[in-house]
Parts: sequence; structure tokens; C-alpha cells
Amino acid sequence: MSLLFVTGTGTGIGKTYVTAHLTRQLRVRAVKPVISGFDPAAPAGSDSAILLEAMGEALTPANIDAISPWRYAAALAPNMAARRENRTIDLPAIVDWCAAQSGSVIIEGVGGVMSPVTDEETVLDWIVALDCPALLVGGSYLGAISHTLTAFEALRACAIAVAAIVVSESEAGVDLDETAAVIRTHTQTPVAIVPRRGAPQNLASFVVRYL
Ligand SMILES: Nc1ncnc2c1ncn2[C@@H]1O[C@H](COP(=O)(O)OP(=O)(O)O)[C@@H](O)[C@H]1O
Ligand SMILES: [Mg+2]
Repeated sequence: MSLLFVTGTGTGIGKTYVTAHLTRQLRVRAVKPVISGFDPAAPAGSDSAILLEAMGEALTPANIDAISPWRYAAALAPNMAARRENRTIDLPAIVDWCAAQSGSVIIEGVGGVMSPVTDEETVLDWIVALDCPALLVGGSYLGAISHTLTAFEALRACAIAVAAIVVSESEAGVDLDETAAVIRTHTQTPVAIVPRRGAPQNLASFVVRYL
């Protein structure tokens, strides 16, 4: 079993977009164990639906349950969404579920590197507990370089192996190649780009040795 954890600088940055592309390119399994803002009556368009489509699997309740067992209605951090349903959320259970996967699996996290998952723990604690490599997705909007390098340093401070940093082109912002080039000057880690509506460039080659 090999796991790659896709995290990012925040929500709506391109984690699902990148994960879906990698899933198709590498023909691996992708899971989104914890999803909030999920409406069981309208699952189409959800992260779970996008990842199932990338795997060529039907959007059925059973398939959704198989890749996204922790689902919450409110579009909030999981602990806050769970509280609104009078439910608790337990990180060891999520970690055990991830660790029990088989084959090559890409795990999409939630939000950004330090988004809360439970009342005490963040995504960073989740990755540390899994002890697996991460992929860090950032954007090319003005300000993205600092957000990306800050998130990267948080991962490094916890000794997490970062397979690559991915710059997913923002809707409006700074030149994509220039953004990636500046990030490269601050790190030895590979930096891949994803043009708007395009496929990741060279990313598969950076991550394939981890999967
Ligand atoms: N490189 C890109 N090109 C075009 N659209 C993108 C790109 N990256 C992200 N998006 C779009 O931006 C939105 C947010 O991306 P998503 O992957 O869902 O973010 P996250 O999973 O980090 O919350 C989605 O509509 C997605 O299709
Ligand atoms: Mg997502």
C-alpha cells in the first residue's frame, strides 16, 4: 500500500482538480475520506463525484461511501460541520481507515495544511499520523507565493516528505511560470504547474516514485 496525501494552501485552490488528473494519469485510486458541504440528495459535482468519475466508477451511494465515509452537510471545517449535526469526529478512526486502504491511493485532505479536522487536530496532524508523503497545491493569485511557502514550511517542520509543490493557475493573478520560478528559488522540492483548464505538467513523473 502506498499513500500520497494531497493538501493545499486552502480551500478552492485546486486539490480535487489536480487529484482527478493524477488519478487518470496514473490509474490509481483516489479517496476523499472527509467531505463537508455534502448534500446526499445532490451528490453530482461534489469532490467525491469528481474523484469517482476520474476512477471510472459510477456515482452510487455505495461508491460514495467507499471513498468518503465521513460526510457532513455544512460547508464548514469538519469539526464545525460535525457539531451542527451533533456528531463527533475522531482523527484516529480516519487515520486507521486511510491506513487500511490497499494499492496506490491518493488521499485528498480538506481545506489547507492547518485546517481543523477535529476540535484538537488539523490536517497536518492527519498527515503526520499517516506518515506518508504529501503534495502541496497552491495558486498563482497575488499573494500565493507566501501562502505556498508558508504551508510548505509547516509541512517541513513536521518532517513530512513533499513529493512536489503544484501551482494550479488561479482565475486571475500573476504569470503562472513566473510564480513557479520564484517558488523554485526558495526550495529544492520539484514545482509543477497546472495551466487553467489544462493538465498538470510533469507532475506524474515527480509523484510516481511515491505511489
Ligand atoms: N488549473 C485549473 N484550471 C481550471 N480550473 C481549476 C484549476 N484548478 C482549480 N480549478 C477549479 O477551481 C475550483 C476549485 O478547485 P478544486 O479542485 O475543487 O479545489 P479544492 O479541492 O482545493 O477545494 C473548481 O471549480 C476547479 O475546477
Ligand atoms: Mg476538493
